[in-house]
Amino acid sequence: TSISTFVSQLPKVELHVHIEGTLSPSLRWHLAQKNQIPLPQYPTYKSLVASYATMYNHRRELHGDNGLPTFLEAYYGGMEVLRTEEDFYDLAMEYLAKAADMNVRYADPFFDPQAHTRRGVALAAVMNGLERAKRDAKEMYGVEVDWTMCFLRDVDPSSAMETYEQALEGGFGHVFHAVGLDSNEYDRPPSLFQDIFARARKDGYWITAHCDVGQKDTHEHIREVATSCVGGLEGADRIDHGLNAIERPELIQIIKQRSLGLTLCPHAYHRRLPTEYVFGNIKRLWNEGVRITIASDDPTYMHQRWVLENLELVMYHCGFSGGDMVRLQRTGVDISWAAEDVKERIR
Ligand code: HPA
Ligand code: ZN
Repeated sequence: TSISTFVSQLPKVELHVHIEGTLSPSLRWHLAQKNQIPLPQYPTYKSLVASYATMYNHRRELHGDNGLPTFLEAYYGGMEVLRTEEDFYDLAMEYLAKAADMNVRYADPFFDPQAHTRRGVALAAVMNGLERAKRDAKEMYGVEVDWTMCFLRDVDPSSAMETYEQALEGGFGHVFHAVGLDSNEYDRPPSLFQDIFARARKDGYWITAHCDVGQKDTHEHIREVATSCVGGLEGADRIDHGLNAIERPELIQIIKQRSLGLTLCPHAYHRRLPTEYVFGNIKRLWNEGVRITIASDDPTYMHQRWVLENLELVMYHCGFSGGDMVRLQRTGVDISWAAEDVKERIR
């Protein structure tokens, strides 16, 4: 069988996808009309779709300006059409239907509450929409899903704490099962957020944080997340990205010792880094025995590479066998935060 047939039939998990990064141009267009939000830069649907092909895949702080919107600018701009509970429900259900089509059995996507509340959207609209989608996706599509509340690391940590407490006080503590850290990493070490991580740990949530390859100080950020994210007591439960940990044996030792899982998003790196670097390092991590899983990050802002296409890239460029791919998916189940009975069923 071909790589694409094999990969499409493989039962999958997806552990690193931002739900706002799955907003399709067509749903965005529809919501803009429904909510009467003008898109002055995009007079036609066609021009909106075309904008997704031209994006600056590097960080301005590190690589200079080239006049194009950066990935994060496009991502935060796109979500402005999300306003009501129904919008968040539709966003989530569109992704989860697609996930089911791709034979994804379990997903724990991220959401960015602060990116919505700072635009004047009620936290309850976000939480209620996601809660309903979690329930309905299981029933309608057979996809198990739980949510990870991500905090914006380029925003003051006190805002993260406020958002978190507001969610718990609003009775939404059961809507998510983990907390994470995303947005622009530049000069924002994870240790700035140790209070909120300590609090979430005490409250029983899983913990993860982004440490993307090619950003500033990534190795140091990985070290913090792996060892001292929660007040110097214990590290996080997973690391999002962490591809370049392989360059530092001492980091690999800690990651293996703690059995930390890495959620890797090959196309997110491949769109800006050499093929040999990206897939060479993925293969080295795998051969080292580090627990990794393959995911999509922000598929609609990354040339429509969903988890399926990311797995195809890995199978091809890493030269993995069918058996390797099955083991890769089982590793994903192992490092997922699915309940034990769910793990048993999808393993
Ligand atoms: N990187 C950092 N922050 C993000 C991303 C990403 O790819 N997607 C959503 N928030
Ligand atoms: Zn991400």
